Amino acid sequence: MIKRTSIDAVIEAAKIEEVVGDYLRLKRRGANLMGNCPFHNEKTPSFVVSPAKNIYKCFGCGKAGHPIQFVMDHDNISFPDAIRQLAAKYRITLEEIEQTDEAKSEALRLDSLYLINQFTAEYYEKQMWDTDYGRSIGLQYIKERGFREDVIRKFKIGYAPAGRTQLLEACKAQKYALELVQSLGLSSKDGNRDFFQDRLIFPIQQTNGKYIAFAGRKMGKNDNSPKYINSPETEVYHKSKVLYGLNLAQQAIRKLDLVYIVEGYTDVMALHQAGVENVVATSGTSLTQDHIKILKRHTKRIHFIFDGDAAGIKAALRGMDMVLSQDVDLKMILLPEGEDPDSFSKSKSDEELHLFLKDQAKDFILFKTDLLLKETANDPLQKAEMVKSLVESIAKIPDPIKRAVYIQQCSLLTHVDEAILVGETNKAVQKDIYVERKARSLEQEQDSFYPDETPDGEREVKASSPISRDEYQEKDLVRMLLTHNQKRLDPDEPLTVGQYIADNIKDVVEFIQNEQCKWIVKQYTQENQEKVLDLDYFIYEGTDEVKQFVIDLMTSPYEYSENWEIKKESFLQSQPKPEENQVNDAKQALYRFKAKKIGYLIDLNKLKIQEAIDNNQKEDLTVAIKVQQKLFDMRNEMLQDLGTVVIG
Ligand code: UTP
Ligand code: MN
Repeated sequence: MIKRTSIDAVIEAAKIEEVVGDYLRLKRRGANLMGNCPFHNEKTPSFVVSPAKNIYKCFGCGKAGHPIQFVMDHDNISFPDAIRQLAAKYRITLEEIEQTDEAKSEALRLDSLYLINQFTAEYYEKQMWDTDYGRSIGLQYIKERGFREDVIRKFKIGYAPAGRTQLLEACKAQKYALELVQSLGLSSKDGNRDFFQDRLIFPIQQTNGKYIAFAGRKMGKNDNSPKYINSPETEVYHKSKVLYGLNLAQQAIRKLDLVYIVEGYTDVMALHQAGVENVVATSGTSLTQDHIKILKRHTKRIHFIFDGDAAGIKAALRGMDMVLSQDVDLKMILLPEGEDPDSFSKSKSDEELHLFLKDQAKDFILFKTDLLLKETANDPLQKAEMVKSLVESIAKIPDPIKRAVYIQQCSLLTHVDEAILVGETNKAVQKDIYVERKARSLEQEQDSFYPDETPDGEREVKASSPISRDEYQEKDLVRMLLTHNQKRLDPDEPLTVGQYIADNIKDVVEFIQNEQCKWIVKQYTQENQEKVLDLDYFIYEGTDEVKQFVIDLMTSPYEYSENWEIKKESFLQSQPKPEENQVNDAKQALYRFKAKKIGYLIDLNKLKIQEAIDNNQKEDLTVAIKVQQKLFDMRNEMLQDLGTVVIG
């Protein structure tokens, strides 16, 4: 392992323009440099390098990051490997951490597991191509299904022989520890027999090519064992985080900025054979959040291809709300009845297939609307069910602008009044937030002033609830923290802008809606902060989402909320630009933010008061009124603190 100090030395030395300059031709444009993006196809440059911020960002495909990230993405290598590469460039000698004996033996064990899997994959492949039974059973079968030799080799398809201990014998001959073979799921539980017998083998590889698991398809029809058996979860195989075919697809996914998801191993192979390489499948498990997160590192455009039968159509709707919540561009492609991608691609020319995939991709919400419309008679009850199901999906989309567009389209398609859809969607959004918040507040005990019971989403919630508009205030605040954290609020006092905001925000942090904003603000509110929480910190220490968020924030033009927009005429013209006026600006951002959040709490509490009145619950009413008083006090106190600040 590389020592942290060495890593920091490389980070310190790596200049974005020099690192990127090794790969691309860059031209100067004002303070920045521009070039053709290496991550997607383009003729006019939209790839910007900012020496001042030491970051790059492509305004075409959205790829962005720090110098190390660039090398990782460009060369498709890990963080440590990128550090090593840049250390060589800058002639920095890396110091390595001496591993403990325990860590060493753990690393050795993992190495051995990968080695055994590699041996196994090669063994099965040899069995298929180099033995009589392999050729006449395994190879014969897969060729009969119409697969070409080059594709069979590309996917390293193999054959597990019919004997009961062939693989075990081969491993013994290699002197592999049979305990390890067993822990990889390659032998039976008692360790005495091979797990895969007389099956066609699909090896599963990590994106770096390492073999981590296998799937075996039976070829005969006369026994009633499952069609596929799959390796179990092991130390090197975590199904929920692995996508079949990603190792062969990642470059095409990035080039085309699009990924197709199909259901089966053979579907992935068949599409490759037809020239479609940006395709993956889950391996014997359903799709998870982690799968989507992994794909999002490569592209946000995700198109599902579904079999055109009743089960396929059902599957098309199931689980998709989870995908929507990850803020991706989700489309659905339904195949004609009775077809799966394997059969369909073989019945068409490559050209026809390409056209079909392009023409048939339907936006998920519109796809769902169409599908439900077909099933829904003119019966009001059914129609209500349909609307409910639709708004549940729309509510999952994090971007409020996208939500608004979908609502409009759905209203046109379903002839349901737009205002009703808006109201219902807001309710569903509220409900999701409450559910999430409840789950979270169960996890972490918080002592805050706000009512610890939140209304459930079934109740009438005011349509004007500020769900979507908080975005401005939250981003404002984060932008302020990032740019002015270290600056003094007052030249004569040690208090910095960052501390000032952090001190004033603790009680409403949990109400920040944008996950990235919340995570970032929380870093500032932590006690005994030793790190310098600047742009670099978040770009290096944040998750992929945080990195992307921070870069987008710092490279997009300053946004104002609607109220602010009106004020800016009179205000901004007589004031320094936001970038130069950190004191007033920090107070402004903080005020607008807190005013929003407290206003929100007051709204919620009003509901409680109303409910207590409706149900004649005197004690609840007393509590709720006290809370309301407290909230008003907070708001007034803040007003006084901030004295001069314009009310937003
Ligand atoms: P399918 O039944 O659609 O099979 O299962 P397939 O992929 O089209 O395979 P072929 O074309 O018949 O050979 C889709 C996926 O579900 C998992 C596998 O990942 C398979 O690729 N599956 C299916 C299993 O894990 N076990 C099974 O018994 C069946
Ligand atoms: Mn199939």
